[in-house]
Amino acid sequence: MFILNSVDFHHTYFGLLLIFLIRGCESSVKPIGPSLFKALVGTNVSLAITYTSQNAPPQVSWWKDGVSIAHWTVGIGEPQIASRYKDVLSVEDDGSLTFSNLTLDYTGTYEVIVVQVMSEERRALFNLTVYDIIEKVSLHTWPNDAVEGNGTFTLYYITAKGEAEEVQWFFNGTELQHGSHYSVSGKNLSIIHPRRTDTGLYSVTLKNPFSFGTYSRNVTVLYGPDQPMLDVSPTKDFFVLGESLWFSCGAQGEPVPAVSWAFMAQAVPSAQPGALHIANAQTSQSGVYTCMLINTQTGAQLNKSVTVNIYKSPAGSPVCSVHAVDESAALQYHCQWPGGTPGAQLSFPTLNTSSAGIGELNMTVDNPQGLDGTEVACVVHHPVYQGQCNITARKTAGLLPSVSAAVNENGKLLVTIGCVTEAIPNATVTWSMSGEDVSSLSDHEVSMDTTWLHIGNFNIITAGLHTYKCTAANPLGRQSSDIIPTGPAISEASLSSNEEGTVIMLFWEVPSMAIVTGFDIQMKGPDLSDPSTNITVSQSERAKEYQTLQVRPASSRSAEISGLDPKARYHFRVIPMAGQSAGEPSEPLSTGPGGLSGPAIAGIAAGIPCSLLVLLVVCVVLPCVLYHKKRNSEARYPVSRAVEKAVTTLSSPHHLLTSGLKLPPDYRLHQPPVAGHSRPMPSEPL
Ligand SMILES: *[C@@H]1O[C@H](CO)[C@@H](O)[C@H](O)[C@H]1NC(C)=O
Ligand SMILES: *[C@@H]1O[C@H](CO)[C@@H](O)[C@H](O)[C@H]1NC(C)=O
Ligand SMILES: *[C@@H]1O[C@H](CO)[C@@H](O)[C@H](O)[C@H]1NC(C)=O
Ligand SMILES: *[C@@H]1O[C@H](CO)[C@@H](O)[C@H](O)[C@H]1NC(C)=O
Ligand SMILES: *[C@@H]1O[C@H](CO)[C@@H](O)[C@H](O)[C@H]1NC(C)=O
Ligand SMILES: *[C@@H]1O[C@H](CO)[C@@H](O)[C@H](O)[C@H]1NC(C)=O
Ligand SMILES: *[C@@H]1O[C@H](CO)[C@@H](O)[C@H](O)[C@H]1NC(C)=O
Ligand SMILES: *[C@@H]1O[C@H](CO)[C@@H](O)[C@H](O)[C@H]1NC(C)=O
Ligand SMILES: *[C@@H]1O[C@H](CO)[C@@H](O)[C@H](O)[C@H]1NC(C)=O
Ligand SMILES: *[C@@H]1O[C@H](CO)[C@@H](O)[C@H](O)[C@H]1NC(C)=O
Ligand SMILES: *[C@@H]1O[C@H](CO)[C@@H](O)[C@H](O)[C@H]1NC(C)=O
Ligand SMILES: *[C@@H]1O[C@H](CO)[C@@H](O)[C@H](O)[C@H]1NC(C)=O
Repeated sequence: MFILNSVDFHHTYFGLLLIFLIRGCESSVKPIGPSLFKALVGTNVSLAITYTSQNAPPQVSWWKDGVSIAHWTVGIGEPQIASRYKDVLSVEDDGSLTFSNLTLDYTGTYEVIVVQVMSEERRALFNLTVYDIIEKVSLHTWPNDAVEGNGTFTLYYITAKGEAEEVQWFFNGTELQHGSHYSVSGKNLSIIHPRRTDTGLYSVTLKNPFSFGTYSRNVTVLYGPDQPMLDVSPTKDFFVLGESLWFSCGAQGEPVPAVSWAFMAQAVPSAQPGALHIANAQTSQSGVYTCMLINTQTGAQLNKSVTVNIYKSPAGSPVCSVHAVDESAALQYHCQWPGGTPGAQLSFPTLNTSSAGIGELNMTVDNPQGLDGTEVACVVHHPVYQGQCNITARKTAGLLPSVSAAVNENGKLLVTIGCVTEAIPNATVTWSMSGEDVSSLSDHEVSMDTTWLHIGNFNIITAGLHTYKCTAANPLGRQSSDIIPTGPAISEASLSSNEEGTVIMLFWEVPSMAIVTGFDIQMKGPDLSDPSTNITVSQSERAKEYQTLQVRPASSRSAEISGLDPKARYHFRVIPMAGQSAGEPSEPLSTGPGGLSGPAIAGIAAGIPCSLLVLLVVCVVLPCVLYHKKRNSEARYPVSRAVEKAVTTLSSPHHLLTSGLKLPPDYRLHQPPVAGHSRPMPSEPL
C-alpha cells in the first residue's frame, strides 16, 4: 500500500481544481459538463466556479443528489447551508463550495445552479468521489478447494479500509481477462470449471488515486486419480505355482492418490505403498487383483483390476491305455492326467478332432479293425505343459503256448498250460479240450487273466491223448493254437568236459509240450572222488548199473558232475520225470578212454525232423511204455530198441568245450505261475 504524499496530492488535485466558467447571457459559451473530483478522506476540497459579473449579483444554489445543500445570493447576506452540512461545507465569496475534512459520505454528484437577472439559468455538475487508503486486504476462496472440472471456483478479496477504483487479477504474473474461463466481477475472480493447469499464484492489484497494492494467494487445483497404471511383473500370461510376482499401481493426482489393494474384493494389506508382492504363488491366489486409488482430499476413487492366473501342472505324466469294451468288438481308448490347475485338456486327434476332456478322456471306436498297429496319440494341452502320450492297439500275435508241471503236497500232478500272446489290449483267452469248454471239466481252472489253464490231478497216462485249444482274441483279431501235452521226454542231450576230464557238464532239452516235473541225473561207471555226490551202492554194482547222482528241478537244463577219474569210462543219462512217472531216458552220453571221440561230447541235435521224431516217440511210444510199465513195474523202460536207435541215429556231435565250461544258450520255456506248490522229485533208487 502506497500513500501519495500530501504535497503530490495538492499538486495533483488541489492545484488542478477544475474551474467552471459560467458566462453571461450574451456569451455563447455553455457551462462545461460534469467533472470528476477524487479526494482523500480527511482533506479539504473546493468545487470552484467563476462567472461573469453583470449588473445584478447572481444567485448560486448547490444540490447534492437532487437535495439543496447551500444557497446564496452572492454578496448579499450569509450563505444558507443545510444544517446537516454546516460544519463541513462553506460557500466562498465567489460562490464556490468548499468541503473540509472529507468523509466517504461526501461521494456523490453535486450540481450548481447560477441564476442572474436578464440571463438564462446555468448549471454545472460535479462528481466527487472520496477515497480512503486501502488497507488490510485479504484474499479468500469459495469453495475452499478448487477441484478440477467442478463448477466455479471463486477468489475474492476483502479490504478492511479503502475501496479500489481499479482491480486487476493476475495468474503467475499474467493479467487475466474476463472471458469464458475467467469471470471478473466486483471483488471476485471466478474460474469456470477449473483445470489442473490453473494451479499457481493468483494476485490481485488494487488501485485508487491515493493507494495501490498487490495481494497474492497460491491456489492448488485438486484432481485425480487419473487413469491408473497397473502393472504385473514379470509380464506373463500366467504364473506357475511357486513363482514370485509383483504388482505396481499408481496414478496422477493432486494430492497423489493413496493406493490400497484387494484380491477378489477382499482387502489385502501391503507394506509398500503402490506395490504388492506375492512370493511362492499358490493356485488359490489366482483371481482378480484390484488396485484402489483414492484422492484423500476430494474423495474421488478409481479402481483398476487385473486378473492373474497361477497354474499348476498335474502330477506325473499323462497315461494312455486302450481297453476292449466288454461283450462287443469295440475298443475304448483312455487317456488320463488328473489334477492340475486348470485341468489338462486331452484329445485324440487321430481318432476325432472334436471331442476333448479335462483330466480324463474316453473314446470308443466301434469298428476298430483299421487301427491295428496305429499309434494313437492323446494330445495334452495344459498352460504349463504340452505333450502327448501314445498308445498302439495290436491284434493278437505270436501265440506262444507252453506247458509246465509240478507236484502238489498230495503227490498230485498239476499241469499248467499257458497261452501267452502279445496283444494290446490284452487278449482274452478261451479254452477248450477236445472241443469241450473247459469250464465244464473238473480239475480245470482258468487264471484270472485267462492266459493260463491250470489242470489239477493230471493223469499222465492220458498225456498226448487230449488236444487242448486256446483262442486268444481282442477286438482287433483272434488266434488259436492246439496244445497236446505229452509225457516226460528229453529232446536232446549233450555233454562237455573240462580239459583234465575230471568235470563234466550235462545239457539237455525237453520237447515244448512235455510234462516234466524234474530230472534224475544218472551215471554208470567207477567211483567218483567228489564227496558231494552220494553213492551208497557198492563198487561192483556201480560199474554195472546206472545210479542216480542228482535230482534236478523241472526248470533245470544242465548238471555238473565232478570228481571223475579221467582214465575211467563213465556213462551218463538224464531221465525226465512227471511226478512219480519217468519218461524215456536220454541217449547215454559217455566219457573217458574209448569214448565216442576221446573227451568229446555226444549230443543230440534238435533238428526239425528230430523234433518231429521225438514227438512221435513221445506220443506213440510213451503211452505204450506207460501201459507196459503199469503191467510190469520192474520193466521200467520198455521202450523198443528200434526207437532208441532212431534217437541215436539222429544225434550229432556238439562242439567240445576246451577250457572251462560254457553253458549253451538257455532254451527253457517261459515258466508260468503254477497252482499248488511243486516239490522236488524223490530220488528214487533205480
Ligand atoms: C481545512 O479546513 C479547515 C477549516 O476550514 C482548516 O482548519 C484546515 O487547515 C484546512 N486544511 C488544509 C490542509 O488546508
Ligand atoms: C475530521 O473528521 C474526523 C471524523 O469525521 C474527526 O475524527 C477529525 O477530528 C476531524 N478533523 C478535523 C481537523 O476536524
Ligand atoms: C457523475 O455521477 C452521475 C451520478 O452518479 C453519473 O450519472 C455520471 O455519469 C457521473 N459522471 C462522470 C463523468 O463520472
Ligand atoms: C463440487 O461442486 C459441487 C457443486 O457444484 C459441490 O457441492 C462439491 O462440494 C464440490 N466438490 C468439491 C470437492 O469441492
Ligand atoms: C462474488 O462471489 C460470492 C461468492 O461466490 C458471491 O456470493 C457473490 O455474489 C459474487 N459477487 C459478484 C459481484 O459476482
Ligand atoms: C504457475 O506457477 C506455478 C508455481 O510456480 C507453477 O507450478 C505452474 O506450472 C504455473 N502454471 C502455469 C500455467 O504457468
Ligand atoms: C506460493 O507458492 C510459492 C511456491 O510454492 C511460494 O514461494 C510463495 O511464497 C507462495 N505464495 C504465497 C502468497 O503463499
Ligand atoms: C473399488 O473396489 C472396492 C473393492 O472391490 C469397492 O468397494 C469400491 O466400491 C470400488 N470403487 C469403485 C469406484 O469402483
Ligand atoms: C472312462 O473309462 C473308464 C474305464 O472304462 C471309467 O472308469 C471312467 O469313468 C471313464 N471316464 C469317463 C470320463 O467317461
Ligand atoms: C508319441 O509319439 C510322438 C510321435 O510319434 C513322439 O514324438 C513322442 O515322443 C511319443 N511320446 C511318447 C510319450 O512316447
Ligand atoms: C495285460 O497283461 C499284462 C501282462 O500280462 C499285465 O501286466 C496287465 O496288467 C494286463 N492289463 C490288463 C488291463 O489286464
Ligand atoms: C549225501 O548224503 C548225506 C546223508 O545221507 C546228505 O546229508 C547229503 O545232503 C548228501 N549229499 C548230496 C550232495 O546229495
